[in-house]
Amino acid sequence: MFYLTGGHVWVTARPKEVRTVKQIKGDRSLFPYPSAWYCIDDVRTLAPGELKHFSLCGEDIVYFRTESGELAAMEAYCPHMGANFGHGGKVIGEHVQCPFHGFEFGTDGRCAKVPESKGVPKLKARTLHTDLVMDHLFVWYDYLGRPPSFRLQLWDHPLVSTLSTSITMRTHPQELAENGSDLRHFRFLHHNNFRMLRAEADPERPHVFRTTLKGKIFEESSGRQFQRDLLAAEVDIAMNGLGFLAARCDLYKVGVVNQYLACGTPLNEHETVLRIITAFEEIQDFGTFVPGFRRLPGSGWLQSKMQRPVAKLFTKLMFDDVVAVQLEDRDVWHHKIHRSERKGLDRSVVQFRKWAEQFYPNGDPYLSLAEADALPDVSLEAVRASA
Ligand code: FES
Ligand SMILES: [Fe+2]
Repeated sequence: MFYLTGGHVWVTARPKEVRTVKQIKGDRSLFPYPSAWYCIDDVRTLAPGELKHFSLCGEDIVYFRTESGELAAMEAYCPHMGANFGHGGKVIGEHVQCPFHGFEFGTDGRCAKVPESKGVPKLKARTLHTDLVMDHLFVWYDYLGRPPSFRLQLWDHPLVSTLSTSITMRTHPQELAENGSDLRHFRFLHHNNFRMLRAEADPERPHVFRTTLKGKIFEESSGRQFQRDLLAAEVDIAMNGLGFLAARCDLYKVGVVNQYLACGTPLNEHETVLRIITAFEEIQDFGTFVPGFRRLPGSGWLQSKMQRPVAKLFTKLMFDDVVAVQLEDRDVWHHKIHRSERKGLDRSVVQFRKWAEQFYPNGDPYLSLAEADALPDVSLEAVRASA
């Protein structure tokens, strides 16, 4: 269920029978929809007055930009008689208009205008909590209708030149997130020589899991000598819940600090969209990595002219590499099952799974949907209280 922003509350029926992501006899599958901030879209593609629809955790939502530029997201079903805003709905000024009877709703979800009528009924569409990070729209989702338990955080630096793409995977968001704490696969599948310097829940921010890796990004991959030598990196990964992986990648040989996000958003119980977003953060003094650079005549001028193109070049290289690495993972994710057994797991993965439990109803990643439905629902309780 979505969390509602106060006022009138709508509750939609949950699916009666749901098959969770790949399960085999004798093993347990993960509850399909952990609570998280989920990435919906690159909002640079959303013009004022434009509305789009999206399937999030098996439910339809719409997101739109009003004529004045305000962004909003809400459940797609009209609170009047249930028409879908995503199929024929329009943005009219600061409202979204339903395609069925033309009722208009503001960004707070409240009915604001009815055609040929002076009054408006007390109807409210379910709105979603939103956040904007690196030009991307995120919404909060919680199966039990609970409010956001944390805010998204990036490193506090300006970011320039964002690149973004998305890949649909047949997997669960936890499988994507767990990848960052699984050192063994970095070395074997992705052919780098990372060492793990840290993998633990952040003691000050319990919703964050931190992993620090250091090494050459490519150790053995063929035909990429240039990148192999230059892309030595220290990578600091911060999972903010299970839908938002933020990595800060210090390419210390070239003086470029790159940031990237890898964000898994479940469309339904079988498919998750992975969105990869990169941007460079800063470029340091070229003199730190080009011997004798500062003694060159005009080195200050050259550096000021070259900073932006060099940083852009390395950001593009990093972006291509991050995408290539995720495609290597995809082949595994597409066909694997989740093993709940901890035997043989690296300590960092065990730590990660323990941390991840907090994002499931009742702290149990292996609940069935029927068991989750038996738990109190904040949205439902609000409806009863207001009856
Ligand atoms: S169903 Fe939306 S206005 Fe009637
Ligand atoms: Fe991976």
